[in-house]
Amino acid sequence: MKVTVFGVGYVGLVQGAVLAEVGHDVLCIDIDAAKIERLDKGQIPIYEPGLEALVKEQTAHKRLSFSTDPIAGVAHGEVLFIAVGTPPDEDGSADLAHVLAVARDIGLHMFDPKIVVNKSTVPVGTADKVRDTIAAELASRDLNICVDVVSNPEFLKEGAALDDCRRPDRIIVGSDSQDAQDVMRELYAPFNRNHDRMIFMDVRSAELTKYAANCMLATKISFMNEMANIAEHLGADIEMVRKGIGSDPRIGYQFIYPGCGYGGSCFPKDVKALVKTSEKIGVDARVLKSVEAVNLKQKQRLPELVKQHFGDDLSGLVFALWGLSFKPQTDDMREAPSRVVIEAIIAAGGTVQAFDPEAMAEAQRIYGVRDELKLLGTKEAALSGADGLIVCTEWSSFRAPDFNEIKRLLKQPVIFDGRNLYDPARLEAKGIAYYGIGRGRSV
Ligand code: UGA
Repeated sequence: MKVTVFGVGYVGLVQGAVLAEVGHDVLCIDIDAAKIERLDKGQIPIYEPGLEALVKEQTAHKRLSFSTDPIAGVAHGEVLFIAVGTPPDEDGSADLAHVLAVARDIGLHMFDPKIVVNKSTVPVGTADKVRDTIAAELASRDLNICVDVVSNPEFLKEGAALDDCRRPDRIIVGSDSQDAQDVMRELYAPFNRNHDRMIFMDVRSAELTKYAANCMLATKISFMNEMANIAEHLGADIEMVRKGIGSDPRIGYQFIYPGCGYGGSCFPKDVKALVKTSEKIGVDARVLKSVEAVNLKQKQRLPELVKQHFGDDLSGLVFALWGLSFKPQTDDMREAPSRVVIEAIIAAGGTVQAFDPEAMAEAQRIYGVRDELKLLGTKEAALSGADGLIVCTEWSSFRAPDFNEIKRLLKQPVIFDGRNLYDPARLEAKGIAYYGIGRGRSV
């Protein structure tokens, strides 16, 4: 099947490559000429395990190609995916400018019936806007061509994107057209073996499903972070409580890890956007507002613990910081807790020596060269001469460090563990002071 993907961001590139892998003929369009030029040379703009090899393989097989030409894009695909960004605008609502620009291009350049598929996370009602925008362009050209607009939200996770896309646990298709549903079933047939993962519904329910999923997950995290803060004050250990409640299958073990706050390009943006949507329709989304407020506060938790130990004035103190990305297996630092920690330490007069297995170039891009923030090449170099260690991201290489070496390299052996990676009793026995999230034993 011939497919065009507009927007080679995270979602568009991964989806395009995986559709090519199963045999579809995929053309990816983006307005960023430099990005397309790099992709043509096999250079991937993001870090995602396995993606570079897959893109190289599929471009070599000529099943995947790239262009900046929207006319070629509209002509190529029977199915046209819109996977461009929907950044928050000033008030937190999703900005649809890019989505509607693609819709205009489609309406301007189409000559035969198409199925337009919204992959971007977009507010409920966007499919109608896309349909209207295309129809207006067609009308201005005196054309009357059938166009179906389908909502097909993406649920992939950064760092596991290829796997999520190759083996989706569900494929949501929002459409009121039987023809469009049939085409989507054929398109996704290679991903729909063993048991039926396709769930068909109306367009608006599909659009809301995406927000509801991310907001539910963000709610689980903020709930656990709130429990952690309660546990800390009660002298309980949230890690025990987590295991205790996770064993109830109605709760489950997943996504109940307390930490230094959720980040990334999705949860913060989507929770805010649904709050905004709710305001516009007169619904007071109290749970969602609290989820966001708890998370903002949770990102301050590590700096609070640092100040609890060292006092409010951190002048002259140096902190090793392990983990800059918002989670492991990505170099993405959007809304990362590490950024809040870095800014708070510097604002209190301290300096930071940071290390991350993948996000060093991204940190360099964000912060440039600064006296108060050194970006160092290994986790040991970050420790050297520092007063304490702050762990922001649970990269595997941070899970079992040599604690004797940590003790030797730190001036004042203390660890602020934003992901509860370590055993407080073990560190105490080694003579390293320990602060975790919600681990009342150490308070
Ligand atoms: C998230 C969703 O998990 C995907 O299903 C969705 O498709 C995607 O957003 C999207 O909308 O595009 P992602 O942002 O890649 O994926 O990251 P997650 O793995 O969900 O982690 C988000 C944040 O939650 C991270 O900062 C992570 O550290 C934090 N987290 C996660 C916790 O603090 N505790 C947990 O138990 C789980």
